[in-house]
Amino acid sequence: MLNFSFQNTTKIHFGEGQIKSLSQEIPKDAKVLITYGGGSIKSNGVYEQVVAALSEHTFFEFSGIEPNPSYDTLMKAQALIKEHNIDFLLAVGGGSVVDGTKFIAAAALYKGEGEGADPWDFVAKGKAITQALPMGCVLTLPATGSESNSGGVVTRDGNKLPFFSPLVRPLFAVLDPAVTLSLSDRQISNGIVDAFVHTMEQYLTYSVNGKVQDRFAEGLLQTLIEDGPKALAAETTNDLEVRGNVMWAATMALNGLIGAGVPQDWATHMIGHELTGAHGIDHARTLSIVLPAVMKVCREAKQEKLLQYAERVWNVTEGDVDTRIDRAIALTEQFFESMQVPTRLSHVDLGEADIDALIEKLTEHGMVKLGEHSAITPEVSREILMTAL
Ligand code: NZQ
Ligand code: ZN
Repeated sequence: MLNFSFQNTTKIHFGEGQIKSLSQEIPKDAKVLITYGGGSIKSNGVYEQVVAALSEHTFFEFSGIEPNPSYDTLMKAQALIKEHNIDFLLAVGGGSVVDGTKFIAAAALYKGEGEGADPWDFVAKGKAITQALPMGCVLTLPATGSESNSGGVVTRDGNKLPFFSPLVRPLFAVLDPAVTLSLSDRQISNGIVDAFVHTMEQYLTYSVNGKVQDRFAEGLLQTLIEDGPKALAAETTNDLEVRGNVMWAATMALNGLIGAGVPQDWATHMIGHELTGAHGIDHARTLSIVLPAVMKVCREAKQEKLLQYAERVWNVTEGDVDTRIDRAIALTEQFFESMQVPTRLSHVDLGEADIDALIEKLTEHGMVKLGEHSAITPEVSREILMTAL
C-alpha cells in the first residue's frame, strides 16, 4: 500500500427526515445563502423542508445553477453575497449545485492580484484556494460524491475542468434517500453509473496490496450492480432501502476512503469531460462510453486488477487470461446497458470525424499524461476514442 494521509471532515446525516438537522448544523446567527438548480426542489417538497428547518435563520436564495455548472452563472451569486453579507452557503441539489456552490464559496473570498486575476484561475491554472465561505449541503442526487469531497467541476466556454481544495469540502451533508424518489430514470441511472466509474477509477489500476481499499471497492461495485437495476425496475423503484444503499454507495465511492493509499486512474473522467464540454453529453453517459474502451486499450497494464475484478466482482474464474478479461469487460458493458446508458460513441451520434477536436481539447487542457502510469498520451486517448466508436 502507498503512504497516505486521510481526513474526511464532512458530517453525514443519513436517513428519512434528516433535513430537520439543518436547524442545528448551521449557526443561528449565520446569514445563509441557499443555492439550488432549475427548480426540482420546489416540486418535490425538498425546498419546503429546508425552509421549515431554517425558520429561525436569516436566509437568501440563489437559483439557476445548471447541470455542468457554468462559471458565468456562478459568478452572478457574488453580488448577492456582498449585498447581504452572506457568511454560510447551503447547497440543495445534485452534484452540479454542490460543485457550483464550492466555486461560489471560494470565489466569494478571492483576492486576486494583478491584471486579469479571476477566480477562474482556481480551475484553469490550478491556483490554490486559500479561503472559502463555509458550506453544507442537502444532496438530492446520489452520484458524484461531491457532498463530502473536496473537488468540483466548472465549465466556461466549453472548457470543463476540475478544481480541488480541502477548504471547499462541505461541513455537513444531509443524505435523505426519500428525496431521490422524484429523480427521472435517466438521472437515477446516471448517478449509479457515475458512482460505479468513480470506484473503478480508484480500483482498476495496478495492485499495491491495498486489501482494505480493494475489498471496500469491490463491495461498492457489487452493491451498485445489485441495487442499481432495482432502483430502475418498476416494482422496486420506490424502495427506500434500495435508494439508501445506492446513495451511501455513491458517497463512499468518492469521499477519499477507497482512494487513499492506492494508485488512481481518472483517464475515463478526463476524456469524458471533453465529451461533455464539446457535445453536452451527460457526465455519466460519457463515462459509460469511455470506460469499456479504456479497459480494452489498457488491458495489459491493468491485467492483474482486471483478473481480480473478474473473479471477485463477477465470479468469472474459468478460461485463460484473455477469456476472463473479455468476459469482465462484456459484463461491465451489459451492466451499463441494463442501466440504460450508451456504451459507444455511435450511440450518441458521434463518429470518427469528431475525434480530432476532442484530442485537441484534451491537449489544450494539459491532459496529455493520463492514467495511473501517466502513460495515456493524446495518441492513446485517440486509440481509446477509436475503440469506443
Ligand atoms: O436543477 P434541478 O432542477 O435541481 O434538476 C436537476 C438536474 O436537472 C435534477 N435533479 C437533481 N435532484 C433531483 C433532480 N430531479 C428530480 N428530483 C431530484 N431529487 O437532475 C439534473 C442533473 O443534476 P446534476 O446535479 O447535474 O447531476 P449530478 O449529481 O450527476 O452532477 C453532475 C455534475 O457533477 C460533476 C459532473 O462533471 C457534473 O458537472 N462531478 C463532480 C464530481 C465531484 N465534485 O467530485 C465528480 C464527478 O465525477 C463529476 O465530474
Ligand atoms: Zn464522475
